[in-house]
Formats: sequence, C-alpha cells, structure tokens
Amino acid sequence: MSTRVTARWAFNVNEWNPSDEQYQQVLSFVQPEEKSRINRFHSIEDAKLALIGRCLMRLLFCKIYKSKWTSIQFSRTKENKPILVKPDFDHVINFNISHHGDWVVLVAGESSLIGVDLMKVELPFNQTIDEFFEILKEQFSDYEWNVITNPNHTRFQQLHQFYQYWCLKESYVKAVGLGLNLDLKSIEFHLSNETPNLSGNTQLTKSKTQLFIENKLQPEWKFEETYLDELHCVSIAYNVMEEGKDIKLQNFEKIHIEEIIKFAEKFIGIALTDSLDELIQKEKITPQLAMKVLVQFDKSITEALDTKVRNKATFKAGHLHTYRFCDEVWTFIIKNPNFKLESDQVLVDKIKIVACNSKKPGEAENKS
Ligand SMILES: CC(C)(COP(=O)(O)OP(=O)(O)OC[C@H]1O[C@@H](n2cnc3c(N)ncnc32)[C@H](O)[C@@H]1OP(=O)(O)O)[C@@H](O)C(=O)NCCC(=O)NCCS
Repeated sequence: MSTRVTARWAFNVNEWNPSDEQYQQVLSFVQPEEKSRINRFHSIEDAKLALIGRCLMRLLFCKIYKSKWTSIQFSRTKENKPILVKPDFDHVINFNISHHGDWVVLVAGESSLIGVDLMKVELPFNQTIDEFFEILKEQFSDYEWNVITNPNHTRFQQLHQFYQYWCLKESYVKAVGLGLNLDLKSIEFHLSNETPNLSGNTQLTKSKTQLFIENKLQPEWKFEETYLDELHCVSIAYNVMEEGKDIKLQNFEKIHIEEIIKFAEKFIGIALTDSLDELIQKEKITPQLAMKVLVQFDKSITEALDTKVRNKATFKAGHLHTYRFCDEVWTFIIKNPNFKLESDQVLVDKIKIVACNSKKPGEAENKS
C-alpha cells in the first residue's frame, strides 16, 4: 500500500466557549481515564486543549475510517504516545496530535510514521529572548543555532525561526514515538532555500527541509511546515515508503465543535440500541422497558437538535425520482442531491427522505 496522509485537522479552542452543560456533554465523549486526567487540569484552557485533542482522535476513526464512536478504544505507549487498540484494521493507521496556545491539531497517515508539533510563537512568562535562548541552545546543533540567530534577522524573526526548528524536532520525535530519550542535537535539520517564513504567513507551506541524523541524510523523512495563523507554527513529519513519491500538500482543514457533537451523538444512539438488545437477551430488562428508554432518547435528541444545534445545511435536489404519501407519511427518492454544510460539500447518488408529522405524542389527536 502506498503512503497517504488522510487528515490534517485544526481546531481553534479560542473560538469554543462552551456552556457548562456543553462542556460536560463533550467530556462524556472520551474514555473514563482521559476524562479523569482532563478533570485534573487546573486551567480550563489546558483542559479544553486536551479534551478537543481526544475528540479529534475519535472523530478521525469515526469519520474517515467509519468506526463507531463508542467502540473506539485508545491506549498509550510507555512513552505516552496515544495508540489505537480497537477496532482492528488490516492496515496500519498512524496519527498524532499537538496542542498549544489557541489550537489543537491532528494528522493521520497510512503506511507511514507521522508526527505533528504546534507552537505559539511567544516568550515564556518573565523571560527575555536572551534568557530563553540561553536555556534551550543546548538542544540544537551549531549549524542550526547559526541559522536561528542569523544577525540579519530581527529578534522577533529569530524567535519565529527558533520555534520552526523546535516544531521540526518535536514532530520527528513524536513520529518515531520517542520522548525525552533522544539526543536532539544529533538530529539536524537543513532548511532549503524556499522563501523563509519569518512572519507567520499562513499561505506558505514549506516542504523541502531535510533531516540529517549523525550527519547522514535521511531521504525518506519529509516535513511540511506552515502557520495556522500569524503566531502558531506547525510542522508535520512523515516517512515516505516509496522513494521519489511525494505526498500531495494540503492545507489544514478546520474542524468545529458541531461536527464532533454530531458524530458522537449519532453513535451514542446506536450504542444505546445495542446495549438494550443485549439486556433484553440476558432477560435483565423487558422489551417494553427498552422501548420506553428509546422513546425518551428520541425525545431528548429531538429537543437537543431543535434548541442546541446552530449549524446550517442546505441541499439542492438533483432529480425527484419517486414520491408517495401513505398513512400520513411522505416518502421521496431523490437522485444526485448536493448537500452544502458550513465547511463541507457532500455529493451522493441518491437519498430517501421519509417525512412524518412532527407533533409530540398526544398532540395529533387533539387537532384535526
Ligand atoms: C512527547 C513530547 C514530544 C510532547 O510534546 P509537547 O510539546 O509537550 O506536547 P504537544 O502538544 O506537541 O503534544 C502533546 C500530545 O502528543 C501526544 N504524545 C505524548 N507523548 C508522545 C510521544 N512520546 N510521542 C508522540 N506523541 C506523544 C499526546 O497525544 C499528547 O497529548 P495528550 O497527552 O493530551 O493526549 C515532549 O513531551 C517531549 O518529550 N519532548 C522531548 C524533546 C524535547 O525536549 N524538545 C525540546 C524542544 S527542541
């Protein structure tokens, strides 16, 4: 199988200011041990970053790989790298996340190790650039340090260059899954003569940077460096199996909370039906009680869709193939419709729309 990058996603947590109720709802979408870890963060900003990271991982397997939200299970390696435990795929899917400042990013690839690192270009609290550089200089080779501290660049441009190098190193460290066990000086990056990006230009993606390990070029390692906004730089590292075959560069796609909620809730409904079936089989509950639970679930979901979802979707019908009206139920079959969501467009061969009276139980009898 050839190497593929299947997702480059970015979520801006600064734009997500959930009510307590929505925050708790999203927290319920992740595994219990992750929920406890997130609850231990002192700052809500850190908790939001970690929470969205976990949700993006689930969304990846749900949206791209068609797994059920509730049957996905992650674990971590001893170096703390998240890995997929369930479901089983017949090919390798690697993924990695990073979060810092206002953003969370996720990247995923098939048949390739992949890592990502994101940094906000800023000085740590209470430190000058000189003090900051002095502490971290040790992590870079002499060659790299000369590039970072190029005297023709302003101090702010040097800071940009510093963070780009930092992201490159960490994206590689994360792709191979190592943590602090790697001598960072021995992995040296040579920037190409592509236009340097020292100002946070979001239009520019650089992809010609080369990696040397102990002075030996590693041609199978590729890097994509870009900015999500003028202060957040990001680097993706992956190893391309087939030499000479580059991966098509693409921008990060922005993900919104509505999409996460939509996918999670859809599968929570399916999981509920599965669990109720199992309980009926084991004679723990009666079918009547299961029905009552499902009716209540439908009612709550309908109310939530009505009052809490603000996403707009429109669709253009292609060709009305069939329609009928029977027992107060309309059925339409439409060929080639085109759905437009806020950030997405979906084209399908055909859809079936079944429409019935939306009045709540009991209302219909009172009105003629
Ligand atoms: C592992 C390490 C790379 C994580 O980097 P970070 O900047 O702290 O955090 P990021 O936001 O980029 O990524 C965090 C996510 O990476 C993932 N992650 C954690 N450990 C990982 C590892 N060993 N490999 C790959 N991914 C890892 C996790 O998903 C984590 O998020 P979560 O814990 O909320 O699920 C870092 O802790 C480390 O060990 N660095 C060593 C190298 C170094 O010292 N660099 C200095 C600058 S040059």
